[in-house]
Amino acid sequence: MPPRVRIVEVGARDGLQNEKTIIPTATKIELIDRLSATGLRTIEATSFVSPKWIPQLADAAEVFSGIARKPGVSYPVLVPNLQGYERARAVGADEIAVFAAASEAFSRKNINASIDESIERFAPVLERARADGVKVRGYVSTVLGCPYQGEVPVADVVHVAQRLHTLGCYEISLGDTIGIGTPGKARAMLRAVAGEVPMAALAVHFHDTRGQALANILACLEEGVAVVDSAVSGTGGCPYAKGATGNVASEDVVYMLDGLGIATGIDLPALIATGLWLSAQLGRETSSRVARASL
Ligand code: HMG
Ligand code: MG
Repeated sequence: MPPRVRIVEVGARDGLQNEKTIIPTATKIELIDRLSATGLRTIEATSFVSPKWIPQLADAAEVFSGIARKPGVSYPVLVPNLQGYERARAVGADEIAVFAAASEAFSRKNINASIDESIERFAPVLERARADGVKVRGYVSTVLGCPYQGEVPVADVVHVAQRLHTLGCYEISLGDTIGIGTPGKARAMLRAVAGEVPMAALAVHFHDTRGQALANILACLEEGVAVVDSAVSGTGGCPYAKGATGNVASEDVVYMLDGLGIATGIDLPALIATGLWLSAQLGRETSSRVARASL
């Protein structure tokens, strides 16, 4: 297992994109600033997608402009096309994430494009990013199953991950969008992708819909992955992925990594406090088991 893991905190983006009510901009800003005080080094801040598709993050520019950017912390933002890239750059974003899917059906539901069309759309974004010195992360969704298509062949995941890597994404996050995977499948999928894209350029992104996320993460750590996406308080889900619930809670991942003696640089009590603060803002109980146990 890796001696050190980098957590990519996605709560402010994946978490808040799926909320039924619109969260005040000031709350989003405060969330990100609280997160940056916990030792997290990568905090996905928001999405510059179409506000018609994700009204929850229509205030992306205000959020990004409002945060206190801490030196040494990166704040990637989701970008689906050149229009999103320009909006992100206009407020000073210097790291972005593009997102494709391994399932054709999900790609159409989520971004209204086939997989090929989406990758064609990303090519000029990556070209601009390269010229501007902007780092680009890539997501592959539905890596262990799709709500519309069902089974997703591992070869399709490998193919899309490889294409994003070749296009210039420095890291590819493999997303179990609907939390359907189990550890054996997760391990086999990661191993297959790592056959074509270096493990050092891979991350895992588990939703906890069926309670399998921590077990899946452990299996992937054993395979050698050293970057894990998670969301404080276990918020999250994609509005275009039927049946998807929250991401694995960052507090629970950090607790497990601490127990395994794997360094994260994150102050767990501070992270728990931030998650409890967020759940109070959202008016519901935290989904983090570790946070609940601390009460
Ligand atoms: P479309 O409707 O096919 O595209 O959407 P369009 O180009 O016709 O645009 C429609 C309207 O949106 C136009 O406005 C555009 O100007 C505007 P109108 O002319 O009607 O007034 N528009 C934009 N506005 C602001 N910023 C932009 C932008 N682009 C277009 N960037 C599109 C195609 C890709 C834009 C749309 O489908 C979209 O935004 N989808 C985003 C869906 C999304 O954010 N899903 C959640 C993130 S993915 C996820 O959660 C999974 C992940 O967590 C990993 C995992 O769990 O697996 C990453
Ligand atoms: Mg997600």
